[in-house]
Amino acid sequence: MERSNSNMSTLGGMRPSRRVLTAVAVLAGTVLAGCAENAPQDLFEPAGPNARKIDEGLGGQRFIFIISGIVAAIVIGAVSYIVVKFKDRGQDIPEQTHGNPKLEIALTILPAIILATIAVPTVVKVFELNESDDAACVVNVTGQQWWWEYDYPAQTCGGITIKDPIITSGEMVIPAGVPVQLRITSRDVIHSFWIPALNGKRDAVPGRLHPLRMEADNPGIYVGQCTEFCGLSHARMRQAVVALDAADFQTWVDNQLEPYTSPEAGTLAAEGESQYISQCSRCHQVNGLTDSEGNPVLSNPDENVYSGSAPNLTNLMTRTGFAGFTWDLITEECRNELWNAPSEEFGDMYLAGVWMNTPEGADRPVCFNEVELREWLRNAPGMKPMYANPAQLEKTGGLYRGMPNLGLNEQQIDQLIAYLLVRK
Ligand code: CUA
Repeated sequence: MERSNSNMSTLGGMRPSRRVLTAVAVLAGTVLAGCAENAPQDLFEPAGPNARKIDEGLGGQRFIFIISGIVAAIVIGAVSYIVVKFKDRGQDIPEQTHGNPKLEIALTILPAIILATIAVPTVVKVFELNESDDAACVVNVTGQQWWWEYDYPAQTCGGITIKDPIITSGEMVIPAGVPVQLRITSRDVIHSFWIPALNGKRDAVPGRLHPLRMEADNPGIYVGQCTEFCGLSHARMRQAVVALDAADFQTWVDNQLEPYTSPEAGTLAAEGESQYISQCSRCHQVNGLTDSEGNPVLSNPDENVYSGSAPNLTNLMTRTGFAGFTWDLITEECRNELWNAPSEEFGDMYLAGVWMNTPEGADRPVCFNEVELREWLRNAPGMKPMYANPAQLEKTGGLYRGMPNLGLNEQQIDQLIAYLLVRK
């Protein structure tokens, strides 16, 4: 809607006929672009039971589109007919009439019947979509400017035991074919969680917990984006649900909970660990990290960032995206390969992540998108605007909104990258 409005306003200077033609072309282009093949957010390609429920049957979106289409065709047809037939050709003004009870009653009853036909099955569906008695796992989902955090309490999930809590961000990993109960909230403003292939939207509201049932039929990656305007980088707040079969999900859980080991002393990665402790650990937690005296290094985001939280970076390299899933940790080529992988091959590829396609023994991962991660470390707010006006730093009492530019030099970035790569 926003897009067509802004286009309309630029058409002001054209002749009316050209204006109509251009508007129709823009509308057709928008509609066709939505139908393009390989559109990962195509809402007509459900990949889970809830999305299918939204799509099909009485009260589903196709049903509503058909009814709306018929109504639109009748209205547009009638208006066009009247416009042409009664065009002002200099004829006399026809005899004026007032009131027509029969017509008025008919035009009240007819829309009421149409609306009831849509409303009754839709409301039934809304109740069905809210049923979550069968949920086998729980994931707490927290939105904030501008990323999503997923926190898995210790539990047995789809037959797999998660013995300690897991915290991750950007992409939520779930077992395929298992209904998962999301508990959605926000730390700052209202966001909205939406994975079009799996479910409808659910707002993330501070101080409230909104449930949403998430289930994917098959292993794969299902992407979405925040759908509630939430500030400057709303368009850079993306998310994905990754579904894995039971064995791969078990591997993912084991990888997340693998105890921390420091990189070998004297390596670039070990230098990276010290850089990490001095530059990053104020905000970003890495579980199990200890300083040179063996004391746990604990992040303090509430004393450094306005929202009070920053992504937990434990095992960052088990993910495929960073910075609110807006940039990829894997190269574009590898991402296309992963996103289009057949479901039986997907799990192995996802678990390999940046190491996908890398020959055994190679020390550098083939699929690693080093270019954009370096760019991010060089100047994060240059890629993802955090504040409209840097003077806002005063308003927040010196607390940052999002990641600041840390002024790292290339050597420090080399060290940090080496460290992040050693950690899974
Ligand atoms: Cu979060 Cu828009």
